[in-house]
Amino acid sequence: MNEQFAIQKRVSRRKYDDQCLSAAHQSLIKQKITTYNHESGLTIQLIEDGSIAFNGLAKSYGMFKGVRSLIILKGATSDVHLLEKTGYYGELLVLYATTLGLGTCWVAGTFDRKNPIFKCDADEQITCVITIGTTPDTLSKGESFIRGLSHRKSKPAEAFYTVIDKNITLPKWFHEGIEAVMLAPSAVNSQPVHFSVTRSDDESALQVQASVHGKRTTDKIDLGIAKCHFEIAAGGSFTLGNPGTFYKEHTDN
Ligand SMILES: Cc1cc2nc3c(=O)[nH]c(=O)nc-3n(C[C@H](O)[C@H](O)[C@H](O)COP(=O)(O)O)c2cc1C
Repeated sequence: MNEQFAIQKRVSRRKYDDQCLSAAHQSLIKQKITTYNHESGLTIQLIEDGSIAFNGLAKSYGMFKGVRSLIILKGATSDVHLLEKTGYYGELLVLYATTLGLGTCWVAGTFDRKNPIFKCDADEQITCVITIGTTPDTLSKGESFIRGLSHRKSKPAEAFYTVIDKNITLPKWFHEGIEAVMLAPSAVNSQPVHFSVTRSDDESALQVQASVHGKRTTDKIDLGIAKCHFEIAAGGSFTLGNPGTFYKEHTDN
């Protein structure tokens, strides 16, 4: 399974089998984390057994069960792109876990941040955690209920973007990027990221930008997640920041 397929397949999972990850899965996830920390300057960590700090709490709206392993998303408080970067790299890890057949769920809600397992350096901050583990093949009743509560119905594709120059014909890769964003996780399924399309200065290419306008902490995490999905499906990369500008890699479509 590749990342494109993982985008189609991923859904948030909240019921786990109460087992630690296998040694092979731990090793693969840790290798990815090392690569991403090196690339981003983040200090993401895999906690093999975070059950004590997690399952005791019924505060999260997700009503999680059987959680063991957690990915802790964190980095320097002084990093102005901390939230967006944890969104972007966290989602790369989510998609990788999906390719390994593991279930995941982003959690920004009220998990027990004071528990010692969440202790980090004084100049660091945890932005979010991701539950990760083996899950039953189908969604449990509780999971289906939560999925209904968080309104897992996407906004229509056209609500995700504004075409500023009306005579632009949108290419296939742009539509594919938006379709992947529609499948991205977002806090309470708010889907806050908006794309704008104009002609670039040299008139021969499109300029695509992604931005968020809300004030919720999770908006910038959602921005990183949406950029990650768009890049994978459309082929290219975004600059960091709000807004971020997309640079398409050269292909035929
Ligand atoms: C930044 C972020 C924070 C989230 N926080 C929580 C949370 O605290 N509890 C929870 O159950 N789900 C949480 N979610 C999962 C969303 O509810 C879920 O992604 C959304 O409803 C879309 O459903 P899907 O992921 O199954 O496609 C979070 C997602 C994101 C991206």
